[in-house]
Amino acid sequence: MISATISKMTARRSSTFYNDVMDGLRAENKYLPSKYFYDETGDRLFQQIMACPEYYPTRCEMDILQHQSARMASIFTTYSSSFDLIELGPGDATKSWFLLRELQKKHADFTYYPIDISANVIDWLENRLPVTLPGIKMQGLNGDFMDKMQQVKTFSSNPKIVLFMGANIGNMTPLQATQFCRQLHDNMQPGDLLLIGFDLKKHPRTILDAYNDRQGITRAFNLNLLTRINRELDADFNTDLFEHYPVYDPSSGACKSYLISTAKQEVHIGDKTISFRENEHIWMEISQKYTLDETDNMSAASGFEPIQVFHDTKNWFADVLWQRLP
Ligand code: AVI
Repeated sequence: MISATISKMTARRSSTFYNDVMDGLRAENKYLPSKYFYDETGDRLFQQIMACPEYYPTRCEMDILQHQSARMASIFTTYSSSFDLIELGPGDATKSWFLLRELQKKHADFTYYPIDISANVIDWLENRLPVTLPGIKMQGLNGDFMDKMQQVKTFSSNPKIVLFMGANIGNMTPLQATQFCRQLHDNMQPGDLLLIGFDLKKHPRTILDAYNDRQGITRAFNLNLLTRINRELDADFNTDLFEHYPVYDPSSGACKSYLISTAKQEVHIGDKTISFRENEHIWMEISQKYTLDETDNMSAASGFEPIQVFHDTKNWFADVLWQRLP
């Protein structure tokens, strides 16, 4: 019994999650990777954020997909009569559903490959989409984006259209985003298409409010990572002693969320101790905003050519279509 407990604790402490948390909290400027926000509670809170009046990106991209999917589908089918449609991080595919439906209406010959790190997301899509989109050819893939893109290449040599929507690219720094696009480039063939959702620069207050909703859901979303660390890594964060502090810099376009330690305190993670000064911060997340000039530069830097921009009616968000250069 005791040895089982010890081996469980050792396993925990050698996990990637543990190592990432310890690396972040031992850094001179403390940080935690935002990809760990999404446990069960985090998923639920993110659903609530998307429904908040202040959080506009989801509604803007929905506006694009609802009203411009027919135009996207025409471009895709002109590009190739049969293709593989790969979606990275589809979530519940509420937005891409409109595009899939338009492609079906046009009798496009395509196979849909949603790729997600969550097995639950893939199971849900595989059960749900054949019901709402009868006849859809699809295969869900659970795992790392790049690994699974390589696997799709072994299934078929069809041209590829890759979707990376939801402003997920904003959760990388511009440098990381460019490197990520370069990796996508390396997994695609010349001529293949890439559709990316970028949240655009706009009035700074509109952006800041989106990450500081009045109901406090984004605050809870950030603090939930501390609760997750307590539960999964035997830690003792007191979430009452951390304050949600989002900032937006209109010049760089970086919207960053921090948690501020409101007291000098010590937190234990297993048998390790992390000290916090009063007012010390933990950087939790970046949600980078762009201009279209900046996204054009990113396409050039990562080996693509921009060919079309789909805007929402307010011009707050853009799904940009790039083509992979030879
Ligand atoms: C998933 N991602 C694009 C969201 C964003 O806008 O950065 C995550 C989020 N964080 C706080 N609110 C929403």
